[in-house]
Amino acid sequence: MSATGQRLLSTSLASGKGALPDVVGGEGVWFHLSDGRRVIDASNTAAPLGHCHPEIAQALRESATGLAINEGWGFGPRRQAAEDLVRVAFGDEEWVGAVRFFISASEANDAALALAQALTGRTELATRERAYHGGAGLAREMTIQPQWHGGLAGDRPGSSAEPPRLARVHALPAPTGARVTGQPDPTAGDDWHRDALRQLERSAAVLIDYSQGGTYHTPAYQDTVAGLAERAGALWIADETVTGFGRVGGWFQFQHGTSRPDMVTMGKCLAAGGSPAGAVVLSRRVLEQLDGRAWQSYSTFRGHPLTVAAVIAHLRVSQRDRIYERALARDGYMLERMREVAGAHPSVARIDGRGLHWTVELQGPDWRTWRGEEADPLAGRVAARAMESGVLIATSCEQTSLFIAPPLIVGDSELEQIFEALHHGLTVADAEVG
Ligand SMILES: Cc1ncc(COP(=O)(O)O)c(C=O)c1O
Repeated sequence: MSATGQRLLSTSLASGKGALPDVVGGEGVWFHLSDGRRVIDASNTAAPLGHCHPEIAQALRESATGLAINEGWGFGPRRQAAEDLVRVAFGDEEWVGAVRFFISASEANDAALALAQALTGRTELATRERAYHGGAGLAREMTIQPQWHGGLAGDRPGSSAEPPRLARVHALPAPTGARVTGQPDPTAGDDWHRDALRQLERSAAVLIDYSQGGTYHTPAYQDTVAGLAERAGALWIADETVTGFGRVGGWFQFQHGTSRPDMVTMGKCLAAGGSPAGAVVLSRRVLEQLDGRAWQSYSTFRGHPLTVAAVIAHLRVSQRDRIYERALARDGYMLERMREVAGAHPSVARIDGRGLHWTVELQGPDWRTWRGEEADPLAGRVAARAMESGVLIATSCEQTSLFIAPPLIVGDSELEQIFEALHHGLTVADAEVG
């Protein structure tokens, strides 16, 4: 039994002492809570179509066959989901090879990295500063944020502990320029290229995502890392777990650059949140290297009937209703409103974002020193205050970082309410550090 007397161990994701919202239902952008409140879910990158979308729910009902079918069996809907993914989201681009489904993005990243190690014969890996790529296997090793290594954190001396690391990981400089608050991009010059090339020459792969730690995509950074990786003989894996399927406008973030990855990993919103889902998409070039050999990786529930039914339905709805385009249309509005937030709150240090994913960083200790040891971090208290205005904002268990990511179907008045709540929440931080 846990120290709180409950049988279910809690996660540290929703940090802070405020009572966790207890969700009993929902629809669209709304969560229904057990205390009777309805709150906007602005915290959820797994719900592009919102909650309980009728076509996702219907697809799940229809596919609930009760089949205990494992990844090793042939299954038509699984093949169809792979075809649809390549045709719809990748636009049948010529460089795309084939799809393997996974249960989560963490698992997909672990498998993609292991495959890269097997293909290159190298064990070291690379990512960028402040990355997060999941909680399993090699994905966890690629996490540069110090608080997420599967260990223990506590505010008593000696209570924190980390497990040993599985691989040597290089952290490349990150494009941390900010559109709203104007911080310059430290990767704009070429002074970091030589060191990065050396690190990549020792690495099997470089795994890059475009939202974690409030670090977003720039086409120049993407194309530079892709070029360096190619020269160094390392594979480039684009982690589109958050940014895929329209979160930033367009199907994937990497499509905003000219280079194309060796692998793309995804999860979270792949099945519109209706079922656990992850996938690795291999380029044709990588697929050719598998010719005549089997990728020795298997897990029972990958590509489960519920997962593939939800993936197929998600792709259909997003394409038909042009959901994948919506975030781009909101980008200008979000930028404007975020400028107001930055101007109104002295506690705000940095804001950046794209489409419908934005990070607000508060003044406070550097993220490199944050290990999740403080029981009631400032970001959690800001989120708790924002809840008074009926909006759930995410904190990623960091002390100073908040992010806003409503469903892509969010309406104008709901966005207004999100900004009202953000302003209200930030008054806590202003009083403390402003
Ligand atoms: C960029 C990125 N990659 C991978 C993951 C892992 O996803 P999951 O927790 O669904 O396995 C996350 C989760 O936040 C993520 O943001």
